[in-house]
Amino acid sequence: PVLVVDFGAQYAQLIARRVREAHVYSELVPHSMPVNEMLAKDPRAIILSGGPASVYEPGAPDIDPSIFNAGVPVLGICYGFQVMAHELGGNVDRAATGEYGKTEVTVSAPEGLLHDSPRTQTTWMSHGVAVETAPQGFKVLAQTASAPVAAMEDTSRQLYGVQWHPEVKHTVHGQELINSFLHECAGLPSDWNASNIIDEQIEKIKAQVGRHQVICGLSGGVDSAVAAALVHRAIGDQLTCVFVDHGLLRKGEVEQVKHDFVKATGIKLIAVDASEDFLSALKGVSEPERKRKIIGERFIRTFEKAARDIVAKAGEKGEKVKFLVQGTLYPDVVESGGGDGAANIKSHHNVGGLPKDLDFKLIEPLRTLFKDEVRAIGTELGLPDEIVWRQPFPGPGLGIRIIGDITRERLETLREADAIAREELTKAGLDRTIWQCPVVLLAHVHSVGVQGDERTYGSPIILRPVSSEDAMTADWSHVPYDVLGEISNRITNECKGINRVALDITSKPPATIEWE
Ligand code: XMP
Repeated sequence: PVLVVDFGAQYAQLIARRVREAHVYSELVPHSMPVNEMLAKDPRAIILSGGPASVYEPGAPDIDPSIFNAGVPVLGICYGFQVMAHELGGNVDRAATGEYGKTEVTVSAPEGLLHDSPRTQTTWMSHGVAVETAPQGFKVLAQTASAPVAAMEDTSRQLYGVQWHPEVKHTVHGQELINSFLHECAGLPSDWNASNIIDEQIEKIKAQVGRHQVICGLSGGVDSAVAAALVHRAIGDQLTCVFVDHGLLRKGEVEQVKHDFVKATGIKLIAVDASEDFLSALKGVSEPERKRKIIGERFIRTFEKAARDIVAKAGEKGEKVKFLVQGTLYPDVVESGGGDGAANIKSHHNVGGLPKDLDFKLIEPLRTLFKDEVRAIGTELGLPDEIVWRQPFPGPGLGIRIIGDITRERLETLREADAIAREELTKAGLDRTIWQCPVVLLAHVHSVGVQGDERTYGSPIILRPVSSEDAMTADWSHVPYDVLGEISNRITNECKGINRVALDITSKPPATIEWE
């Protein structure tokens, strides 16, 4: 494999993902892993990630310098680059001015790692420390206004480093740099793809599950559908899917999921109506994290009950259901604060919202992947476009799109508004252009309107259409005015108590996609 050594970066998985995009297999390992263990994995190349520390601070994460003499090509990125420079005798110091965000780089030596790279290019940086002089044997390839050494290489030892972050999309030639390192500098072939990931996961799931019964929490979305299809390939009829109607679903969703999923996969499906249970547990709750925790816990209790029913039905020979499959993706893990040292942004119901006394062992075959990779796997598994290209919808459903506490009446209003927005966006042919469009009800906000010569005092609906590649970052979608106008018109006419429609024009960051 290619090893990505994590120094506590926000986006170390993003590097692993860019390596997969170059069709090369990669594994993420912590920087604390001893170098001999790393080498025992027989790595074809090593990438050292960025990280929040400064190399000369006491206690800054370090790596045994023998890694640089192991005959394995190494690429250092940002902090990883500084560690390489520092360990090999270069001079690393506080920069005159730090560089954060978009930064112009001048390539003074377009060769080796940067042989095909434009002379000037826009990169994304985040550093307050710079490499002042490169270690002996290294050639300086690029500079910026405040980093005299922004890229360097020693081709005889196959060591390479860049100050900027090639893994983020804002670095215009980032993927090319990763490709250049892997294919040209390290000489690796492009031979890793969705079908390898499927084979690898199937082997793993078989070994983990043995003859046990397994249930899968199915939401109707891409992630859980792909996870279910993958597990089904591995263990066939030992799998039962459980689809929970928590009362927070969209209009027509229950019937549509049951129909589409069973038709496409033929997997056993139990549908449970738990709406009473969820809605009474959520009564009077308006704080988003509490909502998320309650919903996360209710899901598990519902799965436990479904599991008991499956066992009871099987009678004497019924074995306990030991495993729960979830379609957890990497962004769910990071946002729930599950990345190494990452902050808790919001508790995704299937990660940070899980109760402590979880009785299932989890199977999460997609946990290191991003949505677009999961879509590729879904297609490879033969799932139809209706499932693979379904827009994301969060597990906590409309519950986190009512700002304020959740009532049946508010749900009814939001469900109507959401159905109108979806219908109009589909009619305008925008389903694939936009990533998703949350429709949000600000239940406690009231404003004055006039309808039919009468004063109204109603709540606003917010439209939040966004475009994104992987939900880690997003931009607001430029939906044509006439489509927005039609949605606004219909919502204010057809949804009781709504007298205003507003458009959210914030990117992520600083906002998130959902309002809670
Ligand atoms: P945010 O709001 O964090 O959303 O920018 C990123 C993506 O994740 C979805 N989302 C969730 N999905 N359970 C889910 O299954 C959750 O608890 C959850 N919270 C957010 C959101 O719709 C967007 O696609």
